[in-house]
Amino acid sequence: MSTAQKKAVAKVNLAAAARLGAPPMGAPESLMKDHGLLNRILLVYKNLLERYQKSPDEPLHSDELSVAANLMLRYIHGYHEEMEEKFIFLRLKREHLLTPLIDVLWRQHWGGKTLTLRLVAATAAARRHEVGAQRVQRDMAAFVRMYEPHEAREDTVVFPAWRDLVSDREFDVVREKMDAVQERVLGERGFAGALSEISAVERSLGIFRLAQYTPNVPGINKPVPTPQHPGS
Ligand SMILES: [Fe+2]
Ligand SMILES: [Fe+2]
Repeated sequence: MSTAQKKAVAKVNLAAAARLGAPPMGAPESLMKDHGLLNRILLVYKNLLERYQKSPDEPLHSDELSVAANLMLRYIHGYHEEMEEKFIFLRLKREHLLTPLIDVLWRQHWGGKTLTLRLVAATAAARRHEVGAQRVQRDMAAFVRMYEPHEAREDTVVFPAWRDLVSDREFDVVREKMDAVQERVLGERGFAGALSEISAVERSLGIFRLAQYTPNVPGINKPVPTPQHPGS
């Protein structure tokens, strides 16, 4: 989709939102959507860890890990965390709000990027059979352990505090700036492109089909409710 087409679609979405009385997505919602993508990368790491724990001698799934780790580098460290630091963390720090928590989260961005760069390098080296899986497993496990509580704290404490702090005008301006950066850093496909990349990895590992995670408990197959009237 060209930039002009994308802008036209965005205009239509804004118009539809206005008709429905709904505001367009704000910065915290957009960052929380990114956390959904982050979670899907973490699920890939967890699946790879399970495989190695079951079969320690299994060859490294370097193609899947490479896509996941490069996505983490490009989208999460290269865009999402830059936006958090620039627009959310610094704004809260300027008001002396949540400073100790922000400092921990900021250091975790640095730690996360270091681990990701090691994973990216390991997948490149693994193709040349130069890297043992032990270090890769340790780095993936450390990443998952850090980022699950990290993003949960941002969703439940940091983003709500930022929303309480800023005016409606600043709220809108930050989202517009984030959109502009996203297009510059990630290209036109942005979030949609990232989503299709992680979906392909999930399919390759056999973890894409959501229904496989539903437990077989009594009553699970009863009919799902459907609305009787439009809008009900
Ligand atoms: Fe973060
Ligand atoms: Fe985040």
